[in-house]
Amino acid sequence: MIDIEKLQTQARMASGTAYAPYSKFRVGAALLCKDGQIIHGCNVENRSFGLTNCAERSAIFTALSMGIRDFKAMAIYSPDCDEVLPPCGACRQVISEFVSGDFPLFLMGKDKVEKHLLGELFPLDSLHDLKGKI
Ligand code: THU
Repeated sequence: MIDIEKLQTQARMASGTAYAPYSKFRVGAALLCKDGQIIHGCNVENRSFGLTNCAERSAIFTALSMGIRDFKAMAIYSPDCDEVLPPCGACRQVISEFVSGDFPLFLMGKDKVEKHLLGELFPLDSLHDLKGKI
């Protein structure tokens, strides 16, 4: 069972460390690992805009750097957006490296939360057989 309330609270907390002086759009991600740990990620911008890292990828990269590779769910939140916030294409690709299509993402809006499976957001993954093999 996933404690969605807890994961949402952690995503809100994660947005608190966002470094977003250029867009002013803060994002937090909470990544639930199979061992029960919750890893935070926030967006980290740069004055060379293309180097910006999204919250979702920050969470994944932090977990990997800690030696954790098995994930159960992710919640994503921005205090600067009333609507639910789906991950960008690059993040969908990076998330897909470590989980399968049934991985749940909880996209949080101001007054709602939507659950989407990665397979819905990132369908027809033609490279899925190559994970970890190239
Ligand atoms: N951003 C994220 O961190 N995650 C998303 O899902 C969408 C966008 C960040 C990137 C950039 O720092 C800011 O939000 C505006 O695009």
